Amino acid sequence: MAVALLVAAGSGERLGSDRPKAFVVLAGRPMLEWSVDALRAAGIDEIVVAVPPGEAAPAGCIGVEGGATRSESVRRALAAAPPGEAVVVHDAARPLVRPQHFTDALAALADADAAIVAARVPHTTKEAGEDLVVTATLDRSRLWAIQTPQAFHRVVLQRALDCDPATLARATDDAWLVEQAGGRVRIVESTPENFKVTTPHDLKVAALLLGERGA
Ligand code: CTP
Ligand code: MG
Repeated sequence: MAVALLVAAGSGERLGSDRPKAFVVLAGRPMLEWSVDALRAAGIDEIVVAVPPGEAAPAGCIGVEGGATRSESVRRALAAAPPGEAVVVHDAARPLVRPQHFTDALAALADADAAIVAARVPHTTKEAGEDLVVTATLDRSRLWAIQTPQAFHRVVLQRALDCDPATLARATDDAWLVEQAGGRVRIVESTPENFKVTTPHDLKVAALLLGERGA
């Protein structure tokens, strides 16, 4: 059975709201609850939530205090997780996640060390130096914008998170740590709808989309 680690311990500095981002009310409920519902609809009931100091996890979830970095929050949540061979990690900042994202990512673990949900990059993407002079135009057909959920065999995630603190602090996603160790990471195709709420603009778009879903 899979267990879920829902990371919700960030402050939401770029959103600039009056409370931690995952607890901002979005289409009538705290942002993180949309992800909890999607997890349960996917049949995943064992959910560990990393929360900021002073905040409580939603009813029926296991709460742990998050760390100073996202990776540290993941590490703390994993340490509190009940037994289970597969682990799915998700950002509470992606409230538009669908149950199928979780089930697809877990199914893709059959022939990989990790499976990550990602959307094709729709824009022409170039590389430039500090001087803003273009050095390359990338082959768009090979580019993926990485999202969560990300699914792992538990031992793989545990090993990846046991790296030195400097590497852990550099990790913007958990799968990168697995790649560094030579692991096989598979992509599961998603859409841009599963975006991360980062700015006030994102919050407005998410509220509109989730409001429509509830109707
Ligand atoms: N997160 C966490 N612990 C941290 C930092 C982030 O659990 N120390 C979680 C956030 O709550 C979020 C996810 O990781 O669900 C992705 O992080 P991000 O979008 O950067 O959220 P914040 O760190 O809250 O936002 P900001 O960077 O603007 O402060
Ligand atoms: Mg952050």
